[in-house]
Order: sequence, then C-alpha cells, then structure tokens
Amino acid sequence: MVCFTHIVLFFFFAALSTVDTRSIQNNSDVELLIQNRIVEKKQLSATIASYRHRFEHSPNFKKLRWALSEKLTPPYCEFCHLFVPAIRFLIEINETIHVENVTIALCKDIQLFLNIEVCVGAVLEYKDAAIEIFSMSPLTNKELCALAFDCEDQKDFPILRWNVTIPGSKPSPRPPQPPASGSPKLKVLHLSDIHVDFAYKPGTQADCHKPLCCRDGPTIPGPNGAGFWGDYRNCDLPYWTAQSILRYASELEEDIDFIYYTGDLPPHNVWNQSRADQLYSLTTINQLLAATFSNKTFYPAVGNHEAAPCNMYPTPSIRTDNITWLYEALADSWATLGLPADTRESIVRGAFYTTMVRPGLRLISLNMNYCAPENYWLFVNATDPLGQLQWMIQWLQYAEDHGEKVHIIAHHPPRSCLAAFSWNFHQIINRYENTIAGQFYGHTHNDEFIVFYDEVDKKRAVSMAYVTPSLTPQSFLNPGYRIYTMDGAYENSSYWVLDHRTVIMNLTATNMYNRTILLNEYEARDAYKMENLFPADWDNLIQRMQNDIDGSLMSSAYQYYTKSYTNGTSCNRSCRRGLLCNFKTARSDDPHACDSIPSYY
Ligand SMILES: *[C@@H]1O[C@H](CO)[C@@H](O)[C@H](O)[C@H]1NC(C)=O
Ligand SMILES: *[C@@H]1O[C@H](CO)[C@@H](O)[C@H](O)[C@H]1NC(C)=O
Ligand SMILES: *[C@@H]1O[C@H](CO)[C@@H](O)[C@H](O)[C@H]1NC(C)=O
Ligand SMILES: *[C@@H]1O[C@H](CO)[C@@H](O)[C@H](O)[C@H]1NC(C)=O
Ligand SMILES: *[C@@H]1O[C@H](CO)[C@@H](O)[C@H](O)[C@H]1NC(C)=O
Ligand SMILES: *[C@@H]1O[C@H](CO)[C@@H](O)[C@H](O)[C@H]1NC(C)=O
Ligand SMILES: *[C@@H]1O[C@H](CO)[C@@H](O)[C@H](O)[C@H]1NC(C)=O
Ligand SMILES: *[C@@H]1O[C@H](CO)[C@@H](O)[C@H](O)[C@H]1NC(C)=O
Ligand SMILES: *[C@@H]1O[C@H](CO)[C@@H](O)[C@H](O)[C@H]1NC(C)=O
Ligand SMILES: *[C@@H]1O[C@H](CO)[C@@H](O)[C@H](O)[C@H]1NC(C)=O
Ligand SMILES: *[C@@H]1O[C@H](CO)[C@@H](O)[C@H](O)[C@H]1NC(C)=O
Ligand SMILES: *[C@@H]1O[C@H](CO)[C@@H](O)[C@H](O)[C@H]1NC(C)=O
Ligand SMILES: [Zn+2]
Ligand SMILES: [Zn+2]
Repeated sequence: MVCFTHIVLFFFFAALSTVDTRSIQNNSDVELLIQNRIVEKKQLSATIASYRHRFEHSPNFKKLRWALSEKLTPPYCEFCHLFVPAIRFLIEINETIHVENVTIALCKDIQLFLNIEVCVGAVLEYKDAAIEIFSMSPLTNKELCALAFDCEDQKDFPILRWNVTIPGSKPSPRPPQPPASGSPKLKVLHLSDIHVDFAYKPGTQADCHKPLCCRDGPTIPGPNGAGFWGDYRNCDLPYWTAQSILRYASELEEDIDFIYYTGDLPPHNVWNQSRADQLYSLTTINQLLAATFSNKTFYPAVGNHEAAPCNMYPTPSIRTDNITWLYEALADSWATLGLPADTRESIVRGAFYTTMVRPGLRLISLNMNYCAPENYWLFVNATDPLGQLQWMIQWLQYAEDHGEKVHIIAHHPPRSCLAAFSWNFHQIINRYENTIAGQFYGHTHNDEFIVFYDEVDKKRAVSMAYVTPSLTPQSFLNPGYRIYTMDGAYENSSYWVLDHRTVIMNLTATNMYNRTILLNEYEARDAYKMENLFPADWDNLIQRMQNDIDGSLMSSAYQYYTKSYTNGTSCNRSCRRGLLCNFKTARSDDPHACDSIPSYY
C-alpha cells in the first residue's frame, strides 16, 4: 500500500510556508531567519515580503488556516501550488538548515491531524531527500504538484512524456487455447505483502492515531485491544501468525512447483525505519520462508516498503543517495531462496532480472519503484529509469524469437505507475500479447484482476494481470495467499493460468478460538462460472457482472476483494461500478477505461 508520505510532504510544505508568513505559529527560528535575511541581504527582503504578502492574501492560505482551526483535512492541491514555490525559494537562499526545526515546530501545531511522534519521525526520515529532490528536479512547480498530489493530468506536461522504442512486425494474435486434457499442470504458490510486524503486541490499542497500531502502550482488555493472531484495524501481521500460515501452506499444498513472491516485507511504521530495520525484516522473513519451503525456488520481486525511507529508490543519477545497500542484500537473500546465481548482477544494478523457470518459460521480475509516483526521486528524472522497460522489450523480443512464453511479476500493478511508464507498458503488453502468458502483482492488498485490451480493437482482451491478495490483514482484510494452476511443463506448453484458488485465514474465528483457522475461500473457474481463465473469459465475466450489477457474481467479486472480511451487501452500486472499473483499468490516467460501463442511476 501507498505510504503516507503524501501527507508528510504536505506538512513539509505547510511548515515552510511559516517562513514567509509567521501566520500559523509563533516560531523563533522563523523570526530569526527572516530578520537575518533582511539585514544581511537587502535585495532579498523585497522577495520575502512579496511571498509573505502572497500567502497572507491568498484565499487558499486562508482556507488552510481555517482548515487547521476547524481540524479538517486541508485541500492538498491548492496548497501544493503555494508551497512548492516557497520551498524552492528557501533552497535558493540557502536556508534549508531551518527546515527541520520549523517543520517539527509545525508538527506540534498540527497534532490533531497527525500523531506527533509520527510527524517528527517522518520529518527526520524524508527531509534530506525532499530538499535534494526539490533542488534537482527540472519539473516546474505545477508539474511537481501534478505528480505528488495527482493534481492534474500528468500527460499534459511535455517534460513527463517519453516513449520507449518498440520493434514492429507484431505477429498476428494467437489467443490461448485450452490444453489437451490430461496434459501436465504446474502448481504455483503466490505470496505477497507479508508485512510482518516484529513489534506486534497482543492487547495493545488497535485503533490508534498512527499509520500502524497494535504495537505499543499498555494492554487494554476487551475488543479495543489487538487480537492475539492479528487485527483488522491498522495492524500488520504478527510473526507467529505468518509462521502459522506459511506452515499450513507448506504442509497442505502438496507438490508446489515454485513460488512467486512479490515484495513488501516490513511493517507499516514508515515514520521510523532504519536500513538495519529493513534488512532485519528481509533476512528474518526470507530465512523463515527458506526453512518452511525447503527445496522450493522462490521468484521474488522488490516491494515499495523494502527501502528506508519507504518508497525512496534513488536512480543512479542521484549522487546524494544510493540504494546499493538494499540491492546487494536482496541479491544475497534471493540467492538463498533458490534464484540462479546469474541473476545477481542485474539485481545489484536495479533489483530487476530475468531467468528461465521451466524450459520455454521465461520470468521477468520488474522493479516498479522506478515507475511509482511515491518514489519522489523520479521527480528528478522519470524517463525509463535504468532503461528497465527497454530492457524488458529486448527480452520479450528474444522470447518471441526463441518461442519462449513469459511471465511478468512485480510489486505494483502497472496502473499504479506514472502515466508515461504505464502507457508505454500497456503498448508493450499489446505488442507481445502472444508471448506474455501471465502477469502477477501485489501491493493493493486486495484480491483483484486486470484485463488488458487491444489498443486498436478496444473490445478485444489481450492479456491478464492478477493482483494477488496480501498476507497482512492491513486494513480490514483477512490474511491470504493464492495458488495458481498453470499449463505446463511440457514441450510447447502455453504456461497460461488455468485456474486459481485463494486461501484465507478467518481472523475473527482464529482470534475467537485461539487457533489458526484457514479455509479455501474460492476457486476462480467455479465461483465465477468460467470456462477458462483466458483474457476473453475474464472480459466475459465483466460483461456478466455489468449486466447484473446487483447480482451474486458481483457480490462475490466484492467479497473476495476484501478476502471475505465483508460481503457484497456492503458494496452499493457506485462501489460495484468502481470495482468493475478497476478490473478494466490497466493504465493510470486513462480517462476512457471505464466508458463502456453504465452509470447505474
Ligand atoms: C510570540 O512569542 C513571544 C515571546 O516568545 C510573545 O511575547 C508573543 O506574545 C507571542 N505572539 C503570539 C501571537 O503568540
Ligand atoms: C548557497 O550556497 C552555495 C554554496 O554553499 C553558494 O555557492 C551559493 O552562492 C549560495 N547561494 C546564495 C543565494 O546564497
Ligand atoms: C534546532 O533546534 C535545536 C533545539 O531546539 C537547536 O539546538 C538547533 O540549533 C536548531 N537548529 C537551527 C538550524 O536553528
Ligand atoms: C523509533 O524506534 C526506536 C526503536 O527502534 C525507538 O527507540 C524510538 O523511540 C522510535 N522513535 C519514534 C519517533 O517513534
Ligand atoms: C510518443 O508516441 C506517441 C504515439 O505513439 C506520440 O503521439 C507522442 O508524441 C510520442 N511522445 C514523445 C515524447 O515522443
Ligand atoms: C531437498 O533436496 C535434497 C537434494 O536434492 C534432498 O536430498 C532432500 O531430501 C530434499 N528435501 C526435501 C524436504 O524435499
Ligand atoms: C553506490 O554505492 C556503490 C558501492 O556501495 C558504488 O559501487 C556505486 O557506484 C554507487 N552508485 C552511485 C550512483 O553513486
Ligand atoms: C533522464 O534519464 C534519461 C535516461 O536515463 C536520459 O536519457 C535523459 O537525458 C535524462 N534527462 C535529463 C533531463 O537528465
Ligand atoms: C513444438 O513447436 C515446434 C515449433 O512450432 C514444433 O516444431 C514441434 O513439433 C512442437 N512439438 C510438439 C511436441 O508439439
Ligand atoms: C469467520 O468466522 C466467523 C466466526 O466464526 C464467522 O461468523 C464468519 O462467517 C467466518 N467467515 C468466513 C469467511 O468464513
Ligand atoms: C492463545 O494461544 C497462544 C499459543 O498458541 C497462547 O500463548 C495464548 O496465551 C493463548 N491466548 C489465550 C487468550 O488463551
Ligand atoms: C452479509 O453480511 C451482513 C453483515 O455484515 C449479514 O447481515 C448478511 O446476512 C450477509 N449476507 C450474506 C448474503 O451473507
Ligand atoms: Zn503492501
Ligand atoms: Zn506496496
């Protein structure tokens, strides 16, 4: 899930505005700063005065003060347009040294919005990167706001547009066919978003005012206290629950052929995570996996939470930060999970790689942190970082030329990417539809699927992406994992997904009876009455749900979306339409993805 850095960045902006206004608080650092500047550099005083004037007379600024006094969530976009120029001004006059104290002072003022520890922790975690990014980014202030707060359509800004080069001569489409009956099958386990909280403490406040609860303070009796095995509220997975679910999977799921494993290991205490904390999560969880599934090969992808601070994955052009500490640890740890040694170089370089899983089945594991808008380093340069997409095209072309099938795994689904990446990615999937036999993602924590459509014949489904649900119950979900049945492995097998089954832990029952209770939640073909799980079949399912928006298929889809935490009765028509829209949206900022779905009013 997305970290809360947007909020933090907002407060960062808000704090800096005090430099120009002295309106929010009475802060001596600020006074001092302004006085010094006025004395020191006469030519700056006019600028400062003009900024102060601009803020104090801005209707937006009045709204902010009003929002703060009324304890409302402030309107982010409007303020972004005020605050980004202020930060850049500070950078220009070399006064970033005051950022920390000013922001921390502001944290005290806004305690009603954000827990003070969280606020201060976040300032310390993100401050240096934020200053660096604002000084390096070639983006205009307007473009920065568009990216950071989704304030406008990203495609409107020429500087954010870029295209990869896609080879022509696309072969004519050959949609997948069901395999001959009795042909061999593969059984693939997919684990995603484990998010173990090693500090989980049963009985502590489960509904606290932080992004992560169930971990500190006194224990409180009754339903307000954190459940022993986990909690639906803002809490991650206790270690013992992870152990128990994984043991269940290794014992009950016989003959797993291999495991897809799509990232997000650490807990959500993103305001206070060190590199050592992240490496501890990585090694401890991977040791548990290796011990529980001895002799199984894991094919991992990196999540957004593995870095410290969370989401921040600098590209090689950033001189002030370096992510090699993580990528080397990933390469080492992934090797212990069975990944072939020849992937190491690629992982150390960018945490993406390709390898053969079975004869004729190539895996491409992507690092989507190089596409995610939450990775603020991309504001410096978002053009195909490390040439990852161009690299993927080379391998897809190689696969096409050599008659290989390809599975793509990654943490973020491509619709969570910046628009340019997302639209390029979509074109690549279109171009190589005959070669790509499946895409597997995580990150949303929900159970979802995404149908990719042809860019010309917009009704023709060309590819399938599965968003596998999380192990963590965060938030208001049951923990779960997924088993895919695939065609293979034999000569010329298609390696398409033939069926899938989702297993959930009933957290309510588990806490109630104090023993882990797992169940098969559903099997896709049976639950959705599908002949096959090819793109056309999923498109047909969407049609059926669309034609019966109040019906039971649609209700089931919503229930599964929450991993049976709740059922379809809690999803009204606009919620149902939203879910259908999700299933058809393969790229970000696509205003027409859901045009074919009625509005149901
Ligand atoms: C600001 O602080 C000074 C002393 O530190 C105090 O005299 C003054 O009244 C304060 N102003 C406001 C508006 O709180
Ligand atoms: C800011 O500091 C840098 C080096 O520390 C210096 O080159 C630059 O001229 C300074 N800028 C201003 C506006 O003082
Ligand atoms: C920030 O505050 C601390 C403690 O109040 C103080 O020691 C430090 O000098 C301040 N930093 C700046 C740049 O003013
Ligand atoms: C951060 O975590 C450390 C322990 O890992 C703890 O000692 C410290 O108080 C925490 N800081 C905040 C701001 O929560
Ligand atoms: C990218 O390609 C599209 C056509 O596919 C074109 O309209 C657009 O101008 C190109 N953008 C850039 C930045 O080259
Ligand atoms: C793991 O593989 C080794 C060698 O291939 C074999 O001796 C051992 O029995 C296997 N262990 C399990 C639990 O399958
Ligand atoms: C990052 O650090 C590693 C060694 O720790 C070094 O090899 C690499 O060149 C550094 N990368 C950048 C972009 O500075
Ligand atoms: C951004 O990165 C791309 C690819 O690494 C490079 O070609 C381009 O020149 C960079 N743009 C800027 C403005 O540095
Ligand atoms: C597999 O495909 C190749 C190329 O299309 C073909 O030559 C070969 O006979 C096929 N093998 C089987 C067992 O179908
Ligand atoms: C989970 O267990 C509770 C309590 O036994 C029960 O009411 C609920 O229906 C169960 N949910 C599922 C999805 O099995
Ligand atoms: C639940 O079971 C665990 C061991 O599985 C035990 O440590 C714990 O005390 C039990 N809790 C209750 C309330 O019985
Ligand atoms: C759905 O859940 C509600 C409670 O949240 C319950 O009253 C209702 O019976 C459930 N409906 C079905 C069809 O299970
Ligand atoms: Zn996650
Ligand atoms: Zn994530």
